[in-house]
Amino acid sequence: MNNSFQKNKEYKKFVVDSRLQYFKPHATKIEKTFSEEISSSLGTGSKSIHPKFFYDKKGSDLFEKICAVPEYYPTRTEISILKRLQSELDSFLDVDFRLVELGSGSSTKTRLILDFLTSSQKTTEYFPIDISEILTESSEELLNDYKNLSITGIIDTYEGGLEFLKTYDDKNNLIIFLGSSFGNFSPIDGYKFLEKIYATMKPGDLFLIGLDLVKDKVILESAYDDSEGVTAKFNLNVLSRINDELDADFNLNNFSHHSIYNEKDQRIEMYLKSLVDQSIIISKSDLELKLQKDELIHTEYSHKYRLSQIHDLLDDVGFELKHTWFDEKKYFSLTLVSKN
Ligand code: AVJ
Repeated sequence: MNNSFQKNKEYKKFVVDSRLQYFKPHATKIEKTFSEEISSSLGTGSKSIHPKFFYDKKGSDLFEKICAVPEYYPTRTEISILKRLQSELDSFLDVDFRLVELGSGSSTKTRLILDFLTSSQKTTEYFPIDISEILTESSEELLNDYKNLSITGIIDTYEGGLEFLKTYDDKNNLIIFLGSSFGNFSPIDGYKFLEKIYATMKPGDLFLIGLDLVKDKVILESAYDDSEGVTAKFNLNVLSRINDELDADFNLNNFSHHSIYNEKDQRIEMYLKSLVDQSIIISKSDLELKLQKDELIHTEYSHKYRLSQIHDLLDDVGFELKHTWFDEKKYFSLTLVSKN
């Protein structure tokens, strides 16, 4: 990527009303298109599909359903921790903070933080950063429910949005990155991403990160292979998306959901397994994909962490550790750090 170009990226401001606006980059997208990415990630020796492609409308709905299955503990555990953290946040917020969220998130979690900020501050700004259109019904509902809230959406990648924020103004930011979304990064990319967040922050800014913890393999594996088969549907749905958007002819009956916990690398690995020898045409990617029986297409890593690793990682980047909260079973963690 061309860095100087990225830096000079200009944003267009759209004002919806006095409490709702958003910024969108002017520059034409530098990122590769869906069809280009699929063509390179499925056209090589080790075949993969990036997990960001799970989230079309159907995939996002399926993810919401995953969050409600009994085996998938992360969402409900993180919410329970956030409820407790709410009342303790006070001692870390000496001045007014704007809430910056990486991903526009599930509004249940955002609301738990907003409950606190809007009741302790005269006015509160909420800046969601997301590539998909953020300004949906949920922002309208938020504005209805919190009268002293204003929303500024940044429609861009996390990196782009953070860069934008860096020169925006002097207000203190509380940046949140919840749901263990960070777990999708490889350790190296994750480290680089944290460095970017650190570089964006001003002294006094805070960063809250939600991370899933290492635990019993059986619990982890069932969280990613629930008995109702919602996770399987979610995984397979990416093939439907490719069929629809890239004119492909995947037959979903010829694939199965496969997920395992890799103890050494501390991660759930998700794959789509080819059940037969087959050949698939992906027209818009100009690709004929040949798969053998039992061949795997990698779709997601979801890294798990030990508390000591989280602390070491954040410390290495340069953050100052403020506090870590977790549930009584130590399934999930929320860590607050600052830049001094
Ligand atoms: C949204 C990346 C946090 O890794 O737990 C859930 C995605 N994949 N079940 C996770 C997911 C399968 C989820 N993250």
